[in-house]
This record gives sequence, C-alpha cells and structure tokens, in this order.
Amino acid sequence: MKGKRVEESRVSMAQMMNPPDTNAAGNVHGGEIMKLIDTAGGVAAIRHARTNVVTASVNHIDFHQPVFIGDLLRVKASLNFTGRTSMDVGVRVEAENCRTGAVRHISSAYLTFVALDDSGHPTEVPPLVLENEEDQRRYDEAKERREIRFSKRRK
Ligand SMILES: CC(C)(COP(=O)(O)OP(=O)(O)OC[C@H]1O[C@@H](n2cnc3c(N)ncnc32)[C@H](O)[C@@H]1OP(=O)(O)O)[C@@H](O)C(=O)NCCC(=O)NCCS
Repeated sequence: MKGKRVEESRVSMAQMMNPPDTNAAGNVHGGEIMKLIDTAGGVAAIRHARTNVVTASVNHIDFHQPVFIGDLLRVKASLNFTGRTSMDVGVRVEAENCRTGAVRHISSAYLTFVALDDSGHPTEVPPLVLENEEDQRRYDEAKERREIRFSKRRK
C-alpha cells in the first residue's frame, strides 16, 4: 500500500465556546473539549485511511488550563504513527481570546483509531511517510507508547 504524508491528513478546527458548553461555575466542560478532541482526531484518521474509523482508546489527555465562554477553541490533530490497522493521532487544543488575541495551551491528547472496512472489520491503513525530524520524533514516541500498552496488556 502506498504511504501517505502527515500533511495529507492534518486537521485544524475552531469552535466558539457558548453558555451551553459550560458548567455552573462558568467553565467549559471537560467533556465538550474531549468531544472536540475525538472529532478532530477522528477526521485526521479518516483522511489518512479513507475508511470509517473507531476510537479504540484515549491513551493520554492533559488539561492545563480552564476554558471560558467566549474563548475560541482551536483544535489541531495529526497522525503520529500507523500500525497495520491502527493510527495514533496527537491532538493539541488552544484557546484564543478573540478580543485580545491571547492564546493559551489548553490540552494535549493521544488517541488510537482503528480503520474499519465496510463489514466493520479492522482493515489495513497506508503506512506513514515521515518527512522530517519532527515526524520521526512523534513516530518514535508513539511507537514507544504502543509498546508500553502492549506490555501492560500482556501482564
Ligand atoms: C477497536 C476494535 C475495532 C478492535 O477490534 P479487535 O477485534 O480487537 O481488533 P484486532 O485485535 O484485530 O486489532 C486491530 C487493531 O486495533 C488495535 N487495538 C485494539 N484494541 C485497542 C485498544 N484498546 N487500544 C489501542 N489499540 C487497540 C490493535 O493493536 C490493532 O492495531 P494494529 O493492526 O495496528 O496492530 C474493537 O475493539 C471495537 O470495535 N471497539 C469499539 C470501538 C468504538 O465503538 N469506539 C467508540 C465508542 S466509545
């Protein structure tokens, strides 16, 4: 199968945070942010595989700062690693205050998506073509996370 570059599936989305997205304290729910992370990551995976995909696992997620009504959430997702049928996707979330232009790093996450064929079975994905040192670093780190997951599962 012909390989694909990280650039070919990279995703960038933005969404304003409104009152229905918040809890009683006025902060945006973590779940709203997680949904955006899953959506952006899933779109990157679909673009890479050009098949249906499912979220197999959320391997890591950090929330560094709260998000408030009126913040513009900017979500970026890109592939780090491909296995035979699975894809590790990294997602970074930033909040932009549109009045001041200030940007804060809100969250980073790693998710694994699995490509499915039309019968709902895992299906092969194109290998990732690494073009630079950054791609290689992300690939190596994702591969290491995957090996740690496998060894935990074996235990
Ligand atoms: C993800 C799913 C398709 C894997 O099915 P499976 O029968 O375990 O498939 P396989 O054993 O053939 O594994 C397929 C790939 O998935 C990966 N995988 C399976 N479970 C995984 C997990 N929990 N975390 C990360 N990767 C996983 C395997 O490593 C393998 O990757 P590879 O081909 O790149 O080596 C299946 O568990 C599923 O459908 N889960 C529900 C997904 C879903 O509905 N998500 C949204 C609801 S919240």
